[in-house]
Amino acid sequence: MKLALISDIHANLPALEAVLGAIDGDSAIAATYHLGDLVGYAPWPNETVALIRSRGIAGVAGNYDSTVGSRYKHCGCRYEDPLQEQLSHLSFEWTLRHASQSSASYLARLPFRMDVRPLGGHGPGPSLVLVHGTPTLNTVYWTEDRSDDFCLKMTTLAGMKRGDVIAFGHTHKPWYREIDGFHFVNTGSVGRPKDGDWRAGFILIDFDEERVAVHHERVEYDIARACDGIRKSDLPDDFAEYLRSAGRSMVSGG
Ligand SMILES: [Fe+2]
Repeated sequence: MKLALISDIHANLPALEAVLGAIDGDSAIAATYHLGDLVGYAPWPNETVALIRSRGIAGVAGNYDSTVGSRYKHCGCRYEDPLQEQLSHLSFEWTLRHASQSSASYLARLPFRMDVRPLGGHGPGPSLVLVHGTPTLNTVYWTEDRSDDFCLKMTTLAGMKRGDVIAFGHTHKPWYREIDGFHFVNTGSVGRPKDGDWRAGFILIDFDEERVAVHHERVEYDIARACDGIRKSDLPDDFAEYLRSAGRSMVSGG
């Protein structure tokens, strides 16, 4: 059973289209799930939500989704300096203004967590737990340098058993680790990577009775179209530069 996991699209429609094209090209992929942060930082929030909905892609609420959906005071993102904070607020306010009622209400209804049984719930096969940040909050950054103790504590909070997989996004930097038979998968980001590689990132996971195989995928997309869209909108132009540098420029957030 082969599944695709996509996360942190952040309203980057060209990146999402490229990823879905790659997924469509692999007939072995049985299902696709999203791990939240559909909107923010780019000018296609409604088109992104519409495409995810039209494709029937189920998923969970990222911090951006739940804060836009509930019209919270900010996006719940971390700021490393005052400029970053200012730009983040501009993005959040822009997204609040431009998300349609239908998009906002869809984002508000997304579940916090999903449990998938890739081999069926009738047998003792592995569970795949999908969250955006951690099992307790969608705003906490589960980075690669978190300790084994932190990761194992999350499995307890999530009610997982050995052999299970937990997948999450939010940091925009992909990684994978296995600790004591538990699998930890950070999906990276479709539309706003921060690991220095501008290409859209996503995950393929293969499940069988014996093992779990995790593959980090990258695909090129029409980044010029994405950057043009940002520049032609009244979003800050810095967000276009951020896409090209994939996190090496100073403006972060998300
Ligand atoms: Fe994000």
